[in-house]
Amino acid sequence: MFLRQAYKTATFVSYGYMNWTRGSFLKHQKEFKDQEMAVDLTDKQCLVTGANTGIGYASAEALAARGATVHLVCRSKEKGEKAVGEIKAKTGNPNVSLQVCDLSSLQQVKDFAAEYTSSGRPLHILVNNAGLMETERTQTVDGLETNFAVNVAGVYAMTELLMPALKRASPESRVITVSSGGMLTENLNENLQYEDKNVFDGTTQYARNKRVQVALTEYWVQKHKDAVGFYSMHPGWVDTGGLKKSMPDFHSTYNYLVGVATTRKASKWGILLRPKSCCQAFTRFWHAIHT
Ligand SMILES: NC(=O)c1ccc[n+]([C@@H]2O[C@H](COP(=O)([O-])OP(=O)(O)OC[C@H]3O[C@@H](n4cnc5c(N)ncnc54)[C@H](OP(=O)(O)O)[C@@H]3O)[C@@H](O)[C@H]2O)c1
Repeated sequence: MFLRQAYKTATFVSYGYMNWTRGSFLKHQKEFKDQEMAVDLTDKQCLVTGANTGIGYASAEALAARGATVHLVCRSKEKGEKAVGEIKAKTGNPNVSLQVCDLSSLQQVKDFAAEYTSSGRPLHILVNNAGLMETERTQTVDGLETNFAVNVAGVYAMTELLMPALKRASPESRVITVSSGGMLTENLNENLQYEDKNVFDGTTQYARNKRVQVALTEYWVQKHKDAVGFYSMHPGWVDTGGLKKSMPDFHSTYNYLVGVATTRKASKWGILLRPKSCCQAFTRFWHAIHT
């Protein structure tokens, strides 16, 4: 058991070193096709969770720069308003707005999704980006373990409840769930709540949650395949506040390797911007080596 886990971790780190670093990104950036990245997203409704910082912010900015109407879903009104102001100023796109919603509260997710769907608007792109790795075991208002609540329950509820809006934009609509290569270190596990506080390990719980996100994506593909495109992906190792806070040792050790959450990096995600006809392999786990 110990040896198997050590093998998985060593494989993950060495594979990541070769494929998910700044050097790898710069190499693959040369293969980006400008015509695929220069899409016009005018009149497309896009929603990015956790968009006030890091990868979510870069994604929202990339979408806004291409003319989309972008809804930033953030738990902090203050941080969200700051991000909206910055993105509007940088892109010149006035159609950027804030939706305050804490994904650790199922009631808030329900209220937000009900408001969005009852507005009658379609939803072309949902980016399930918000995520966290809490190292101590805490519980949410719903009594769920916090990592699970945000990374799994919030993502599941948000996606399912927004299906009417996603179907309104069908067959163009897509859901991109930002998982992590870290999920390769864990198998699917029935102990979703990681009950025992004495042995709780936030890194393990995060990896399990990210594994569930990939499984959920495969489930959604089966359930809604003719209506909506579903994709799970790994963004590479990106130098964000989240990475620094949750894995300070990893961050400082690999600081010289990690990429930067630039707009260019976010826009590289073929699944975010490419026509759906170019992204047919729904069950593929997209990561940094794919262009
Ligand atoms: N950075 C990497 O190398 C890396 C690698 C693999 C996967 N990922 C994944 O990429 C995604 C983005 O990560 P990041 O590195 O950009 O992290 P980040 O800088 O910490 O950003 C995370 C975002 O999620 C939001 N968030 C957290 N809990 C929330 C909640 N309960 N309700 C609503 N929003 C919430 C945060 O809001 P606050 O600002 O209010 O906290 C923040 O906007 C995550 O899903 C992460 O697992 C990152």
